Amino acid sequence: MSKFMQGNSKRILVPGGAGYIGSHTCVELLNRGYTPVIVDNFVNSSMAAIDRICQITGANDVPVIEADIRDTEAMIGALREHECEAVIHFAGLKAVGESTANPLDYYSNNVQGSLSLLDAMRQTGVGHIVFSSSATVYGTPVSLPYTEDHPLAPTNPYGMTKYAVELMLNDLVASGAGINAGILRYFNPIGAHPTGLIGEDPNGVPNNLMPFVAQVAVGRRPHLNVFGNDYDTPDGTGVRDYIHVVDLAEAHIVALEKLLESPDSFTVNLGSGNGYSVLDVVKAFEQASGREIPLNFAERRAGDLPAYWADPSYAMELLGWKTRLTLEDMCRDQWAWQSGNPEGYPQREVGAA
Ligand code: NAD
Ligand code: UFG
Repeated sequence: MSKFMQGNSKRILVPGGAGYIGSHTCVELLNRGYTPVIVDNFVNSSMAAIDRICQITGANDVPVIEADIRDTEAMIGALREHECEAVIHFAGLKAVGESTANPLDYYSNNVQGSLSLLDAMRQTGVGHIVFSSSATVYGTPVSLPYTEDHPLAPTNPYGMTKYAVELMLNDLVASGAGINAGILRYFNPIGAHPTGLIGEDPNGVPNNLMPFVAQVAVGRRPHLNVFGNDYDTPDGTGVRDYIHVVDLAEAHIVALEKLLESPDSFTVNLGSGNGYSVLDVVKAFEQASGREIPLNFAERRAGDLPAYWADPSYAMELLGWKTRLTLEDMCRDQWAWQSGNPEGYPQREVGAA
């Protein structure tokens, strides 16, 4: 028996647990007495995140398996050795633009990877999975806010891979394989753990708004390019539903416990129900950081939607969960992370960019 298998805590396999949302979820798992068993190939994360998870939670150590989820035998070995009861699956690639340039990498990592993981679960009799899906599965809004029954029509290969995995999960659940699934459609996760010890650490130039803004504030980039100020929105800039990553992480625990307690499967939006524009975010970040964010109004970014936000009411009805942290909290915690770690994690022992 390994040192990690002592005690009564339930062990949860967490593929992608070293990444941004995964690391925050591992903290919440540990805080509630679960043992996360992290599987990661470190293609977009750092071993340093694991030390920080331990630092925040006081855990002596966390089991980490360096592997690719496409390695089914390694997944079977991890589930068996650690006697995992469930899986919270974050592992995948997530850059929309890159997915358009290299679609096969995305289908391989995200779809083939999920297939391999599900096959390992089937072979080992592990019966519960929480899956990271995305609001991007909805595509161009037919109506807003997005409800879970909104038509699904992703507009890029990344979104198609999320849609494909949702279909695969639904078919697997319906087949009577003894697996239930919680499909979580995230809106726009931002912010960091309030300790400032873990946060988003993108490789290279950030694709997303919040890490870009934070890098401008800390002096790593001269200005923010605002992609379009002529949208039909209150101030002309794009509107999104931002969600604090700690709220999001907590929702995973609630979803996990729902799957452990009842046989049903579900698909649910995780958002706040509020839309904020790019300029709203910039203003809130300037206040939180006390730094000015110079702006450059640029062309619209290809493929961007003008505005969307969640109808979060089903999450409340099903899980009794709603967001509690505000845009101000998101900016304050993002700044704590960015100002304390201006260059990201101290060293990338594996998978350095
Ligand atoms: P992230 O890149 O920080 O985390 C993903 C982790 O998975 C990384 O640690 C990476 O190294 C690992 N990984 C990738 N491919 C792997 C593979 N084949 N085998 C093993 N490990 C692998 O991303 P994140 O923001 O934490 O996102 C987590 C999940 O949530 C992803 O599936 C993503 O698509 C989804 N999601 C993210 C957002 C967002 O805006 N951050 C929005 C919606 C959905
Ligand atoms: N934006 C800028 N400048 C930047 C980056 C972004 O003005 O440098 C704008 C965008 O045009 C958009 C808003 O900020 O209006 C948010 O853009 P993000 O790139 O932060 O987020 P997206 O809504 O485009 O997409 C993100 C993830 C997707 C995920 C989706 C879920 O990148 O993977 O949220 O809603 F699917």
